Formats: sequence, C-alpha cells, structure tokens
Amino acid sequence: MSAAPLAGSGKITAPGILSRKSLLLAGSPEARKITCLTAYDYPTARLLDDVGVDILLVGDSLAMVALGYDSTLPVTIDEMLVHVRAVRRGTRHALLVADMPYGSFHVSLEDSVRNAVRLVKEGGAEAVKVEGGERRIELIARLTEAEIPVMGHVGLTPQSVNAIGGFSVQGKSAEAARQVERDARAVEAAGAFAVVLESMPRELAARITEKLRIPTIGIGAGPDCDGQVLVFHDMAGLTMGHTPKFARRYANLAAEISRAAAEYCDDVRSGKFPSDAESYHAPVEHREHVAVRQRG
Ligand code: KIV
Repeated sequence: MSAAPLAGSGKITAPGILSRKSLLLAGSPEARKITCLTAYDYPTARLLDDVGVDILLVGDSLAMVALGYDSTLPVTIDEMLVHVRAVRRGTRHALLVADMPYGSFHVSLEDSVRNAVRLVKEGGAEAVKVEGGERRIELIARLTEAEIPVMGHVGLTPQSVNAIGGFSVQGKSAEAARQVERDARAVEAAGAFAVVLESMPRELAARITEKLRIPTIGIGAGPDCDGQVLVFHDMAGLTMGHTPKFARRYANLAAEISRAAAEYCDDVRSGKFPSDAESYHAPVEHREHVAVRQRG
C-alpha cells in the first residue's frame, strides 16, 4: 500500500475542492477555477503535480489512450490499481481521484464498496469517481458513509457506450436536458463533493453549475463550469486517431517522440550512437587483457 501525504502545506483535499464552490459562487477575488487532468503513470503525475494541477484523475480513459482498447469497458480494477499506485507515488499536492471502472460497481453494493476501498487502501486514491446520475444515489451514499469522497459524472458517460449507442453529446432536447439536470442534482444530494459534466450544451452546463452547491468540472461542457478536465494524452498531443472538438491540444508530443525515435535509429545505424564519451572504459592497466574492438 502507498500512503497519501498528509493534508497541510498546500495539499489539496476533497473538502478543499468543495469549499472552492462557495468562493466561486460569491465571486470572491480568491476564487480560482479548478484544474483537473488525467494521469496514468509516475513521471506524468510528477510533472502535473509540480505545475500545480488541482486534481489528478486516474480515469478509465486509461483503457483507450494508454492500453489501446477501443472503449473504456475492458479495463479492470486490478489494471486500474497498477496505475493508481504509480500516480500516487508521483503526487504530493494534487487530489488523487481514481475512476471506478466498468463492472466494478455494477454487481452489488457490497462488491462496489469493496472495490472502492481497494482503490483507496491499495492504490492510495483519496476519492473515487463514479459514472451515472440518479441510478447511483445509493452507491454514492454508501461510499460517502464509508469515508470515501465521491466525484460524480453525468451527461455523456462513456461506460454507457453500448446502452446509448455511441459517444454523442447529451442533453440536447428539453427532456434530455431535464434528465441530465436531475442526474446532477441526484449526485449532489447523495453526497458527492464534485461532479464531472461531460459533452453537453454549454447552456445546460451553465445552468447546472449555477444551481448546484458542489463544483462542476466540465469536459466538452463549455467555459461556465467551476473547473475543467482534459485527458492528458489529448492535451499533450499523444492521442492516436480522432479527438473531440473540445480536446484542445497544448503540445504535439507525438511528433516530438517520433522525431526523437527516428533520430536515434539513424544514429545507431550510422554508428553515431553511442559515442566514446557515452561508453565505459576498462582501467588502463587491464586494457591489454580486454579484447576491445573499436571502430572509427
Ligand atoms: O476517464 C476519464 O478520463 C474521464 C474524464 C474524461 C472525466 O472520465
């Protein structure tokens, strides 16, 4: 098990994120929008934590962007745990939230609580994220009772891809918008400390943000949410294939990695790598006993 650093000295906590809402609602000069990025490994967690990202989310998007599946459904709780532990080791200040993957909260309440406890106890997560609105009231209440802070997730919930028939913008009709709002209110009433609003009209997300007393974290939900989340690979330009229009790319790491790897291959093939300075040398007195074949 890997322990979370103790609160204090700039440590971001779930109650701390919740309290940001009242500052944002009051338009306080101290109010700051909440920043969240996904992370799946140690070096990324270190880099993101060092620049002051508020929340690191080990999302089940791991399945698609890092493990190469074409949906989030296959990733298991054991696979998630490997990545949650790695991110735990790289995180000092940010709040570490772990996604509950598909299947880890669909069998029974007992099983779901046990899986969430594993993410906290074995992974070092400080909160879990659960997809779904009204259907998750009982689960969110049970997790909260078990001292596990819960981040809700409504609107487009990628784990529902088979049920809804694709990854489409949610809440576009009046009735669909009312359902998304009911879902967000249900998550809040059940005890969640924040809620992700994914892929919905900006106007709907703004209305929900105004009505709720917990912070909304938007992705494809416009600029009026209390915070924003992006998938790290989308943000850094590492995603293979299509990215949605809201996924602003802040870097093109794919091009940079390809360039570096191609240069490395050229250097190996032409004998430029490794150089003599990058080689170890036998002690002078032993050199005559060592058969060294030197080129160039
Ligand atoms: O899995 C994930 O990365 C997510 C975010 C997109 C919110 O759920």
